[in-house]
Amino acid sequence: MTPTVYIADIAKYPGKEVTLQGWVYNKTHKGKLQFIMLRDGTGIIQAVLFKDDVGDAVFESCLNLTQESSVRITGSVTEDKRAKGGFELQAKKVDILQIAPEYPISPKEHGIDFLMEHRHLWLRSSLQHAIIKVRHEVIRACRDYFDNLGFTLIDAPIFTPAACEGTTTLFETNYFDSKAYLTQSGQLYMEAAAMAFGKVYCFGPTFRAEKSKTRRHLTEFWMIEPEVAYCDLPCVMDLAEGLIVSIVERVLERKKEELLLLERDLAPLERVQKPFPKITYDQAVELLKKADAAFTFGSDFGAPDETIISQAFDRPVMVTHYPAEVKAFYMKRDPAQPDRALGVDVLASEGYGEIIGGGQREDDLQSLLDRIEAHKLPAEAFNWYIDLRKFGSVPHAGFGLGIERTISWICGLQHIRETIPFPRTISRIYP
Ligand code: 4AD
Ligand code: MG
Repeated sequence: MTPTVYIADIAKYPGKEVTLQGWVYNKTHKGKLQFIMLRDGTGIIQAVLFKDDVGDAVFESCLNLTQESSVRITGSVTEDKRAKGGFELQAKKVDILQIAPEYPISPKEHGIDFLMEHRHLWLRSSLQHAIIKVRHEVIRACRDYFDNLGFTLIDAPIFTPAACEGTTTLFETNYFDSKAYLTQSGQLYMEAAAMAFGKVYCFGPTFRAEKSKTRRHLTEFWMIEPEVAYCDLPCVMDLAEGLIVSIVERVLERKKEELLLLERDLAPLERVQKPFPKITYDQAVELLKKADAAFTFGSDFGAPDETIISQAFDRPVMVTHYPAEVKAFYMKRDPAQPDRALGVDVLASEGYGEIIGGGQREDDLQSLLDRIEAHKLPAEAFNWYIDLRKFGSVPHAGFGLGIERTISWICGLQHIRETIPFPRTISRIYP
């Protein structure tokens, strides 16, 4: 029996007969020969059809094959030094499953709206394919990092009764006779889980009704969120630094080909080594002043500010001690400077901006109650969270790493929308 194999495994079958199943990527034809570039999702290979080998009828019907037609080709694997991948297939038999009508995406330049409208097909293109392969590796690296450190995976709910990251970006939905919100972050649930399991993480989709159109914002994005009991700000900064180093190292090791296809300059990624520069909010503001940026002391950094700050360093930079006013209600304040939060943002290098937000959590019951009131949050919805400060409260810390922002940086992309298979933005919910 002829084995049916994937193109990625073709090197295991030199001189053997195999069946490949895929889609026509490209095709040329010259006299008694047809050359089909066949892709199957794992790779691309050239199949050579010689009229005398496949017979007149098959040869004729293959002349009708169009881009993205689906075919099963059986033939022998021959080594060919010139071929990409080093092998080609000498076809003996071709089964046509379907002839595709004219494919809307051609090698000519298409506008981004057109491509996004055809995202379901655009995913087949080599650059999009490469980005999604990097995405898979980034996610795998995150999971491996925490699994190897003995963390327990805890899944956070998507329907939630209250806000975690401010009420302005909440997606509200009907929940039988009441209202629910799509989660903005799994953090609060991870805090509960950390008190049960010590060190935990969640990985899942999070939702924010971001009303502005930017290159860094999606309305649905994925976050990996670790949370650790008996951990303070420096402890969680170490954890974040280690995570970023191990993600980048892993992608360089396993997805270099994809990065090169994306024309990513590898040098800045190779510099992503410990230790990262660590600066305070005040030091970051000094950098902005030097660059003559229009910035008001005390406010949060906008995307252009983050770009200026990150461009001052050759690797990701960790910024701490933001004014507590601009940070979330759950952040612990620095006892030495009570107007500052024990939080950290990690800004990726090369102007990519914030990829991680996190820090130490308020563990004192009364301070947390005051903060919930000051932020005008509905106290009843937080009763369970407040319980965590009553039953064995301990210092604890965590962070959230935005998967798409991280991929955007690692791949060197202009815009976040290509880092997720089916992006959701203020102006897009199709396909
Ligand atoms: O800084 P944020 O808002 O932090 C939190 O949500 C914390 N509760 C996380 C935690 O401590 N467990 O978001 C964390 C990260 C950002 O640094 C960014 O990478 C990403 O999530 N992010 C977005 N990514 C894409 N589109 C958006 N609209 C994003 N908003 C945040
Ligand atoms: Mg943030």
